[in-house]
Amino acid sequence: MSARRLALSILNDIELHKSFAHIAAPAALSTSDLEARDKGLVTELVYGVLRNQLALDWLIDKFASRPVARIEPQLLNLLRLGVYQLVYLDKIPGHAAVDTSVDLAKEQFRPGVEKFVNAVLRSAARGREALPWPKRGRELTHYLSVFYSHPRWLVELWIDELGVETTEALLIADNKRPKVTLRANTIKTSPQALADLLRQAGIEAAADNICPEAIVPAGQNIPENIIADGLAYVQNSASIAVGHAIAPKKGESVIDFCAAPGGKATHLAQLMGDDGRVIAVDINASRLKLVEDNCRRLGVNIVKCVKGDATKSLSLPEVDHVLVDAPCSGLGVLARRPDSRWRKTAADIPRLAALQLGIVNNVAKHVKKGGTLTYSVCTISNAETYGVIEQFNSAHPDFRPKPVEIPGQTFAESPYARFWPHLHGTDGMFIAQWRRY
Ligand SMILES: C[S@@+](CC[C@H](N)C(=O)[O-])C[C@H]1O[C@@H](n2cnc3c(N)ncnc32)[C@H](O)[C@@H]1O
Repeated sequence: MSARRLALSILNDIELHKSFAHIAAPAALSTSDLEARDKGLVTELVYGVLRNQLALDWLIDKFASRPVARIEPQLLNLLRLGVYQLVYLDKIPGHAAVDTSVDLAKEQFRPGVEKFVNAVLRSAARGREALPWPKRGRELTHYLSVFYSHPRWLVELWIDELGVETTEALLIADNKRPKVTLRANTIKTSPQALADLLRQAGIEAAADNICPEAIVPAGQNIPENIIADGLAYVQNSASIAVGHAIAPKKGESVIDFCAAPGGKATHLAQLMGDDGRVIAVDINASRLKLVEDNCRRLGVNIVKCVKGDATKSLSLPEVDHVLVDAPCSGLGVLARRPDSRWRKTAADIPRLAALQLGIVNNVAKHVKKGGTLTYSVCTISNAETYGVIEQFNSAHPDFRPKPVEIPGQTFAESPYARFWPHLHGTDGMFIAQWRRY
């Protein structure tokens, strides 16, 4: 199967079965016999089309003889694939984008459809020097939403909370291809040894300027054994930084109340030299199984998994450090999850903020006097950050905000720490911390 045909079948699968791109694409690629370069093209096409879907549909609507809403989903995906190549990929010649799309139309659709595909793509190819975007000066929100392909409610929310300049910077950052970061598992190896191993496999590897154990390989193809043998865990630097903010010592005790799949729990164990106790709680049993699998792979022995709802009373001890890495709207990780921007709604935010507050209010009692409570979310909305924190503060006078300290970093919002996609090149992550008195 050609790269474009496979890309189309993955896009259709995601559309029809509501599959997640970060699961559907690697699964389809793992059983494909395409060469590595073509597999790279499939990922580029699938992720690019999903990321730019609103912008692509706007353009198709302008170039097609009928409205996008009246084009059947599989055919629309084929048009999106073609227009994506024409508008966003310089390295693919225009005629190749048109011809391969027409061939796919002949192969996959009823006779005659290829004429419609040909007409839409030819006018897109002709018009690509001056694309018919909405006018920026006339309606800014609409322009930003379409041009940067983000849902309008999200653009409105960010403009309202962060202003136009930061919003536009975030929209641009979301559309960049994200880098993969590996956390060297210091229980089994060192960052230097991990980088050497990558270089031996022909992959350039750079140190990261945020976390000492983070390594950034050039490209997305990580040799399987590095992950399978537990030498590294794929984890964004902003997420690794949460562990450094907690900085647990050997022999201490920690409860991670929203632990699956275990990125932060296993990092905390690693920082403790696998000596002490980490209780990993999660409401979802199958996700909790991932924590167990990851611990086994990484050689982590001190993590004990407990299935539980962190909004309810759980029979767990008081510990030195409690972490709530809460379920959130994930607006800080849109670059890594190209389809996720289309799955979210404005209504998710107040619902999740209420859940976050319910969790953090309920689990605070498990922090020993003198111990720390850490709250982190990989999102960018006031309700899920300051909203939750302010309500927690007024209900818990025995908890005082503690400035989040991450070596080498200063934060404009101290005592809180915030990583921004457009400023740090990481996931968006908000971290707050308290000490109990
Ligand atoms: C952001 S993810 C955690 C990521 C994890 N800390 C890591 O670093 O790999 C949030 C987790 O919270 C869990 N969760 C959602 N509601 C919960 C609840 N009421 N109690 C406990 N866990 C919950 C979800 O199943 C999900 O695994």
